[in-house]
Amino acid sequence: MPTEPETYRYEQIASQVMHWIEQGTYRPGERIPSLRQMSQQQSASISSVLQAYTLLENRGFIEVRPQSGYYVRDVPGKSLPEPEISSPSLDPNHVNLHDLMMRIVRDSLNPNVVQLGAAMPNLELLPTERLNRISARLVRTADPTLHQYLLPPGLEPLRVQIARRATQWGCDLLPGDIMITSGGIEAVDLCLHAVCKPGDIVAIESPMYFGTLQLIEVHGLKALEIPTNPREGLSLEALQFAIEHNPIKAVLTISNFNNPLGSCMPDEKKQELVELLARHDIPLIDNDVSGELYYAGKRPWVTKAFDKKGLVMLCSSFSKDISPALRVGWVAPGRFKSQLEWLKFTTSSATPNLSQLIVAEFLESGGYDQHLRRIRREYSRNMALISQAVTRDFPGGTRVTRPAGGFVLWVQLPDRIDALELYTLAQRNGISLTPGALFSPSNQFFNFIRINAALWNIPIERALHRLGDMVSALRSR
Ligand SMILES: Cc1ncc(COP(=O)(O)O)c(C=O)c1O
Repeated sequence: MPTEPETYRYEQIASQVMHWIEQGTYRPGERIPSLRQMSQQQSASISSVLQAYTLLENRGFIEVRPQSGYYVRDVPGKSLPEPEISSPSLDPNHVNLHDLMMRIVRDSLNPNVVQLGAAMPNLELLPTERLNRISARLVRTADPTLHQYLLPPGLEPLRVQIARRATQWGCDLLPGDIMITSGGIEAVDLCLHAVCKPGDIVAIESPMYFGTLQLIEVHGLKALEIPTNPREGLSLEALQFAIEHNPIKAVLTISNFNNPLGSCMPDEKKQELVELLARHDIPLIDNDVSGELYYAGKRPWVTKAFDKKGLVMLCSSFSKDISPALRVGWVAPGRFKSQLEWLKFTTSSATPNLSQLIVAEFLESGGYDQHLRRIRREYSRNMALISQAVTRDFPGGTRVTRPAGGFVLWVQLPDRIDALELYTLAQRNGISLTPGALFSPSNQFFNFIRINAALWNIPIERALHRLGDMVSALRSR
């Protein structure tokens, strides 16, 4: 039997230490176990522990103090608190954000700004070379079926690969339970279309990714914002209350690494959520586009793992980890499967054949897990560096989330500074960010910004420094 590779062991140890740091077992400035203690505790060689500690040191989480040991790194002088649980109004609202969104989309096309706005994955962390090789080979086969419609539910080998992976998220999916879509956003769109009609109320996490708010606007639905905790996600008590007082037709969540909050609902709470909705026969549309991008520990489960009534519609895509341009997403729609297949066929017929084949071959040929391990490490490191820069450069009174996965950071500006004003000022100074106004139909987050933490480099470090100065200037004004 092959022995477990050493790299895997040191990564496990690094993940364990990261988990302790995130959960507060070891706080900034405190000493973590010595190399010897850790090697005994974990039954690992000293060299594995050393390798793990070096990795964490390089990623900026710990530092070595000569003659003393390894310490959790602190940002001198201060650490920023997290935003509090959101407290939106009790009434549902129509969404009217398209003008603002299109203005920000147009601005984001400007190549001359430092991009801290759009939640784009880091291009250097996509498996571009392998994707190019696979697509060149597929194109060379000159197989005419490449140019044929691939009708719903989509490419079978790809659905097989997704079903195999689903066991890692606590799910027992069959290839026949899955339908391929053009990106995750189409998956959510079709789900809303299947279970809601204009005027219906959809309960959502608050804040909520603006792309899905746009879908609510397009479908003429009303959004009922539910208080959401920056670590643990949706408040189930508040949701229960909302269900008792409103005819809610669907609930929309990003239970793993919400965009923009970074919250991740604990698995036991996911089960409670699914059971609560099952008692009221309400469908749950859960958008899991970033579930694979956890920084430490193990893959969080998906709500679908607890679905006994076929009410959970699990949506995801390969946009954040393989390629957003290929536009390959998928949905496991439970009892709404035939409706979704009909809607997919009616609205877009098929997802491009070539894109599906490329992703299927990438997954089949192995190396996806290794790729994921690498990008998780990088995103975790970049998030730590960006968070440290915000902590260092932004004035007191700022609050910031502590995401345990994904690559967006949610920042609450001090003294009720208007984030749209900061947006305009930053844009004039060559920096883009996403203002909080986009993440709520009732403008709950006018004093928040979302920062893309996928990338770290000197221009970004400088841009954050300048942004901090702008926030200070707006504050003192
Ligand atoms: C939460 C969330 N859902 C969906 C999407 C869009 O996914 P896709 O590009 O696969 O349609 C994004 C992209 O930023 C996202 O952040």
